[in-house]
Amino acid sequence: MTFRKNILCIGAGYVGGPTMAMIAYKCPQYKVTVVDIDAERIKQWNSDDLPIYEPGLDEIVKKIRGRNLFFSDDIEKAIREAEIIFVSVNTPVKNYGVGLGMAADLQYWEKTARQIRDVSDSHKIIVEKSTFPVKTAQAMERILTSNSSHVQFDILSNPEFLAEGTAIKDLEYPDRVLIGSRMTESGLKARDELVEIYANWVPMERIVTSNIWSSELSKLVSNAFLAQRITSINSFTAFCEKSGADITEVARAVGMDSRLGPKFLNASIGFGGSCFKKDILNLVYLCRYYGLVEIADYWESVVRINDYQMRRFVLTMLGAMFNTLAGKRLCLFGFAFKANTGDTRESPAIYISRRLIEEKVELVITDPKALANAMNDLKGLEGKISYIEDPYEASANCDAIAVVTEWELYSNLDFKKIYKNMVKPAFIFDGRNILDHEKLFEIGFNVFPIGKPALTHFE
Ligand SMILES: NC(=O)c1ccc[n+]([C@@H]2O[C@H](COP(=O)([O-])OP(=O)(O)OC[C@H]3O[C@@H](n4cnc5c(N)ncnc54)[C@H](O)[C@@H]3O)[C@@H](O)[C@H]2O)c1
Repeated sequence: MTFRKNILCIGAGYVGGPTMAMIAYKCPQYKVTVVDIDAERIKQWNSDDLPIYEPGLDEIVKKIRGRNLFFSDDIEKAIREAEIIFVSVNTPVKNYGVGLGMAADLQYWEKTARQIRDVSDSHKIIVEKSTFPVKTAQAMERILTSNSSHVQFDILSNPEFLAEGTAIKDLEYPDRVLIGSRMTESGLKARDELVEIYANWVPMERIVTSNIWSSELSKLVSNAFLAQRITSINSFTAFCEKSGADITEVARAVGMDSRLGPKFLNASIGFGGSCFKKDILNLVYLCRYYGLVEIADYWESVVRINDYQMRRFVLTMLGAMFNTLAGKRLCLFGFAFKANTGDTRESPAIYISRRLIEEKVELVITDPKALANAMNDLKGLEGKISYIEDPYEASANCDAIAVVTEWELYSNLDFKKIYKNMVKPAFIFDGRNILDHEKLFEIGFNVFPIGKPALTHFE
């Protein structure tokens, strides 16, 4: 079969896999190939056991894989054949040198840019799908045009706004698709080619175009706003616990203001995930680079409060359980950074586990999708940790349960049965406020929600 266009994505991760699956699913006229330097990951994409869990992803991939969606580790061949190349490699925070712990580590995209330059023998549109610092497109242009061949490249910025756990829905019905381009004749032509792809399923009024720097910055600003909103509500939880106010009631009242809206107002132990923290720190780094110290400090405080919230959760456990956790068995309900994903990158569970092990807790971890990643994250940690998928078995003989991930299954458990098998007094720390606290209290638990007065059986 001949295809109208060859589309390539470099980077077969949480973004590259699902986004390309959606493009291939909606556009059977295009051949979509996804490549990665990690050959094992490509093997998994070609197997029955995909490397990432996302509701609805399996069905789509299995329907179109081999039809117009292909996963390959032959990167050079795929680059040569492609007309449009999405770059979706990872952009973690630097863990060395200048910008340590703040700036984006750009070595992965730079290697990709050089490889594209060295292999290409025809015009290509390069699409930044990863979240890059502002002005990355310019650096990319400089690398791509720095050899003697006269191959022409057009760079577009098309940041991805999907959220893990709802990626397929977000990709199928996006709030918006943003495409930034150079305002030159060839830049605008490239932009229109990308618009044409999305127009296969996204209404035109949701496809937004802008200049390339606005597009790069919009992604960082979006994530900063989202993280800031979580931090804003969380910052009032300690206040509620001290004053007798209830954060859920406060959030409901605040969210009914149509200027604010009700979303993203659930109090919790704090945000995790691979993006929020790194994107804010990257923004902070850029602000400092431009000498915007006050702005940098403002956004950095969002991350600081988030760290405080995680610390506070552990201190609440310690205080509630008579200021010693040593030798006690504590079960974490959930390890993923949010529900409906197996992703544990920057999950609050990692920090909480480390701290609890320092306090000499015997830790039991349960999660329906993230146990393999959890084992990897806690590898080398010296202490007693077990990983048990069944929450009933996991919580048996424990002194306490801490809800870390808001998996729906935890709200539907038989807590009478769980209570019976626990050590008394039994404690529940609901880090996501997803359980029925009154009911748990009636069963006999001492209940510690977030941002609400605790319910205890002690005088
Ligand atoms: N995960 C999310 O929810 C999300 C959402 C929006 C945007 N983003 C952004 O998208 C980008 C990718 O994120 P992700 O979560 O998919 O990361 P990921 O780590 O899951 O995937 C990145 C992949 O790129 C591959 N890779 C790295 N260098 C390569 C190279 N030179 N050639 C080929 N493959 C290479 C890695 O092996 C890895 O499989 C990041 O910039 C991230 O900030 C992520």
